[in-house]
Amino acid sequence: MRTYIVGNWKMNFTIGESSIYLHKLLKKITPSRGLQIAVAPSLIALQPLSLQLDRKKIKLVAQNCCAKDFGAYTGETAVAQLRGLVDFCIVGHSERRYVFGETDKDIREKVAACIRNNITPILCIGETESERTFGETADVLRDQLASGLADVSKEDLAKVIIAYEPVWAISSVKGARVAVPDDVSCCIDLIRKHLKSTYGKEAEDIPVLYGGSVSPSNCGAYLTIPGVNGLLVGASSLILDQFNDIIETAKRVRS
Ligand code: 13P
Repeated sequence: MRTYIVGNWKMNFTIGESSIYLHKLLKKITPSRGLQIAVAPSLIALQPLSLQLDRKKIKLVAQNCCAKDFGAYTGETAVAQLRGLVDFCIVGHSERRYVFGETDKDIREKVAACIRNNITPILCIGETESERTFGETADVLRDQLASGLADVSKEDLAKVIIAYEPVWAISSVKGARVAVPDDVSCCIDLIRKHLKSTYGKEAEDIPVLYGGSVSPSNCGAYLTIPGVNGLLVGASSLILDQFNDIIETAKRVRS
């Protein structure tokens, strides 16, 4: 299976800064079989970056979308409007769930809208610090998976990517800690088991990424966890040399 290294720039970089970063990144990286590199800039940068991009080297990712295909939804961007610009769309990121109050229903509809529009959703799931403390991690992950994928048919499963991002390990969260690979491994197992019990053997082909304080120094350990097919990188993806180091490690680990 492919390895995905996805940089989530969140609400950082102007259009100009995004363009300069991408230019430098395109110069730095060499394509590698089996490695898919992608970046998720701000919505406003998607269009200019799409013109600058060499899609054989890097794909574009939207950070969010609206599940409706068109209509009176001021300030929203339909997945249908992202067609041709991006290959992937992050859905259900914890910042969308907990800062902007997105519900399971919103997320389920966004996943379905992405599939309907031929854009691969990267469905983010993950427990909060308090859910972890109260031993609810397994239930939370199962619920978020079941709900997010509720409208996905077995045939469309191959069009989905899952990202496990424990909320307590995201660098921008106050008091965030770095998840040790054993923690991550348990949750990846759980996710894989749930997918298999729901969808059967086909679920083995669903890529599962890890995200949360990924850096050049810990990325190798996450990438060697069985069942992990790549990384969703936040803060470290904003620093070109760090993102490139992560890409180089992925090449080494996966070769
Ligand atoms: P950090 O890598 O900054 O912890 O962010 C993770 C994340 O939220 C990626 O989507």
